[in-house]
Amino acid sequence: MSDSSSRTRARLILDCDPGHDDAVAIVAAARYADLVGITTVAGNAPLEQTTYNARVMRDLLGIDVPVHSGAHRPIVEHPQPADFVHGASGLDGADLPEPTTPLDGTNAVEFIVDTCRAEEGLWLVPTGPLTNIALALRMAPDLADRVAGISLMGGGTHGNRFPMAEFNIWADPEAANIVYTAPGRLIMAGLDVTHQFQATPGRIAQVAALPGRLAAVLADLFTYFSNNYLSRHDPGTIEGAAIHDPLAVLAITHPEVFTSVARHVQVELRGSVTRGMTVIDLRQITDRPAPNCEVLATVDADAAFEVVRAAIEHYSTP
Ligand code: BDR
Ligand code: CA
Repeated sequence: MSDSSSRTRARLILDCDPGHDDAVAIVAAARYADLVGITTVAGNAPLEQTTYNARVMRDLLGIDVPVHSGAHRPIVEHPQPADFVHGASGLDGADLPEPTTPLDGTNAVEFIVDTCRAEEGLWLVPTGPLTNIALALRMAPDLADRVAGISLMGGGTHGNRFPMAEFNIWADPEAANIVYTAPGRLIMAGLDVTHQFQATPGRIAQVAALPGRLAAVLADLFTYFSNNYLSRHDPGTIEGAAIHDPLAVLAITHPEVFTSVARHVQVELRGSVTRGMTVIDLRQITDRPAPNCEVLATVDADAAFEVVRAAIEHYSTP
């Protein structure tokens, strides 16, 4: 893996719903990309809370990045927070400082449109329900060809919220459908790859060993998140929480830690037990539809975690 300092830094907008793993995605994006903005969406917690959490993370990192809040609800569905995963605050488990820097705006969708029109080649990295991104694409279809691509966390060949539906896609399937049917490059970090990247006790200990407030907060967040996952899974099936969201960032900044396959992916909108499923065409017959998505297949979890650990260390001042 080449040194991060010798890479060309991607410029990106992170659209998130922090969320323990979204918080880690913010750290990775700040360290390894030019983070042009953070936009927030209702998902793991109500919008006010995910926005608050994004501001907390910005302050903990000490970065000068605008935070804009966006959609307070999915396009059709009602908001259905994942408090059973992330707690009522969205970031339960750590003693968080109150944010001191103000919110920069309340119209994330306009921020995304204006920023992507002002500068070609930005990446959009959604790690929550796809509401903001879909509304931006609907408002400004030209965006799909102006951005470098969209690298999202969502979907998979199996689900977590329901047997076949992953939370981010299930929370706003109509928005996901708009994103998956838009032209342009699309990278998908689904559950198949994110479940290979777990917050094991050894990895949490590596974070806890780092100095400073950020590392202490993240160690507590990892601990809460992992204990929650462990308590909700059959014994012996996982070693800790799946650290989903930073993989959507690393797919751009550290693509060498992944393998991927090009596939045609559709979002199921009508199934009585499969709404919100990503239907990934794995057939090997030659007349299948052309791929619309780079589906991440494997991740070198130790290498990826070292990238994350080093990012945390970078912001860890005693
Ligand atoms: C996704 O759902 C949320 O709970 C996480 O933050 C992640 O983005 C995983 O299904
Ligand atoms: Ca998320």
